[in-house]
Amino acid sequence: MSANATDSKKHGIVKRFLDAKWAWDFVQGPIYNHLVIKAASGLFEQFVHEVEAPENARILDIGSGPGHVTLMFARKYPGAEIVGVDYSPTQVRYANRLLKREALPNCSLRIGDAMSLPFVDASFDIVVSVACIKHWPDKLRGLLEIKRILAPGGKAYIAEADREASEKDFTAFAEKFTAWYVFKPFMRWYLRKIVFGKSVSADEIKALVYEAGFADVSVVKAPEGPFLIMKAGK
Ligand SMILES: C[S@@+](CC[C@H](N)C(=O)[O-])C[C@H]1O[C@@H](n2cnc3c(N)ncnc32)[C@H](O)[C@@H]1O
Repeated sequence: MSANATDSKKHGIVKRFLDAKWAWDFVQGPIYNHLVIKAASGLFEQFVHEVEAPENARILDIGSGPGHVTLMFARKYPGAEIVGVDYSPTQVRYANRLLKREALPNCSLRIGDAMSLPFVDASFDIVVSVACIKHWPDKLRGLLEIKRILAPGGKAYIAEADREASEKDFTAFAEKFTAWYVFKPFMRWYLRKIVFGKSVSADEIKALVYEAGFADVSVVKAPEGPFLIMKAGK
């Protein structure tokens, strides 16, 4: 069975809500941007550190959300061109507000769907995506889109919640949600069963990336936290 076939089995009501654009516009986006960003800052730093790009690379961030990771790349590579895309107009507006504050001339953010990226073939050297692939209705299609827009020799890096994360790693991450309005038992359940429960495992993402035709695929556990980092070449 294709690894992608498992997607269709997960399309229950909760999963459809989690993946819906309107939910990112009005519900999940605001919660994520105010709560999760702080808890995941360690992962972002590790991920950006992990990505190796030529100084003048064209880098695309898919599912750029509030733009924190996109802007980190723009700071790390001032000579590169960084583009962030997200299918939620609210998220793109939020990210553009952040960008305006820093005025990084090498960065831009726009609306775009991972299922049909608004770029011509071979237009990027590096494609990155953090915490987005679990929301794609067809992961293989998204990976094929990445391959299409990558130049020959380009690299893809994907970070995602590890469905098979150990209890210890998961608990340490869940403990970081400290806002006064967080009801911890609910948050813990929601994260474990819904967010992580509907994410990918290392084997699953590896199989999908190979199926999409990438080479040199590696998936490692993030040094800190219950996340996976996938790296592959075109
Ligand atoms: C969990 S957030 C991660 C945001 C950002 N990468 C970060 O790590 O801070 C997931 C983002 O992916 C976006 N998203 C989900 N499905 C998408 C799709 N098919 N195409 C583009 N963006 C998508 C959502 O709107 C949301 O902003």
